[in-house]
Amino acid sequence: MSELRLTSEKRLRLFTGRGFPELADEVASELGVPLTPTSAYDFANGEIFVRFEESVRGCDAFVLQSHAAPVNKQIMEQLIMVDALKRASAKRITVVAPFYGYARQDKKHRGREPISARLMADLYKAAGADRLMVVDLHTSQIQGFFDGPVDHLFALPMLANYVGSKVDRSMLTIVSPDSGRVRVAERWSELLGGCPIAFIHKTRDPLVPNESVTGRVVGDVTGRTCVVIDDMIDTAGTITKAVDALFEGGAKDVIVAATHAVFSGPAVERLRDSRAVEIVVTNSLPIADDKRFDKLTVLTIAPLLARAIREVFEDGSVTSLFDGHS
Ligand code: R5P
Repeated sequence: MSELRLTSEKRLRLFTGRGFPELADEVASELGVPLTPTSAYDFANGEIFVRFEESVRGCDAFVLQSHAAPVNKQIMEQLIMVDALKRASAKRITVVAPFYGYARQDKKHRGREPISARLMADLYKAAGADRLMVVDLHTSQIQGFFDGPVDHLFALPMLANYVGSKVDRSMLTIVSPDSGRVRVAERWSELLGGCPIAFIHKTRDPLVPNESVTGRVVGDVTGRTCVVIDDMIDTAGTITKAVDALFEGGAKDVIVAATHAVFSGPAVERLRDSRAVEIVVTNSLPIADDKRFDKLTVLTIAPLLARAIREVFEDGSVTSLFDGHS
């Protein structure tokens, strides 16, 4: 009688939605694994259908989707993929969302508002996700919304190294465009040898979305090369107002660095017309050709995602990717 044996060999499987397949291709080639062939299409009324073309039973599944516009469609597609994996007996399912949609709605500013970032986490859990992998969350506490492990990756060191390699560090001042991002500015400062930081005292009318009112610069920026940092550039109102305020405050040069290039509405025009010398972003979201311009630099996060996926798959340490400690 032949023996019945269990194999303990794990299988990594990478899946992509239609949000930004080019990034998934890059991650796949970094990892040296193929993307699992998947059929996906929309019904006439907009409903989404997904089917994997190979068995996924028992695999360690990583489902990559960038929450680019139309955001709700990309999120729904990723949820449907997770559901399909769960029902096809994947062993573990990791949602990889380089840009986590709805992250800005992480608390109630007034009564009768949703906490949509929490709802997102609940939806992924209900669909069957075991863990989340995200890059530069709007606020770190969103990690606590998901009842399971969250790998919060940071593009910050990559952005900071790039900027640090281009400018005289002794002339640098790191600028947070609002008081909420000062801690991130401090991290930039640590990575770039302790340069001074400043911030813009910004106020926002909660009744008017996508409109920020820039106040005054807090900190000395006279004659300095300022790097304004942010998690995302959406309509670019926040960042370009910060750039203006810095020049009014006597800055010599301004560089903008942000992880997520959402680039909605007037963003490209505003950035192109701004006095910032360079805008540095990552490819956590797709940037169409007509949204690219001369002073825009796009750094790829594919190697970061690939390294983190490998660490998770091999039960290694994701933390070690950031601080060199185990
Ligand atoms: C705000 O808290 C965020 O960190 C960003 O500063 C903001 O969402 C960017 O939006 P916009 O580019 O439309 O000003």
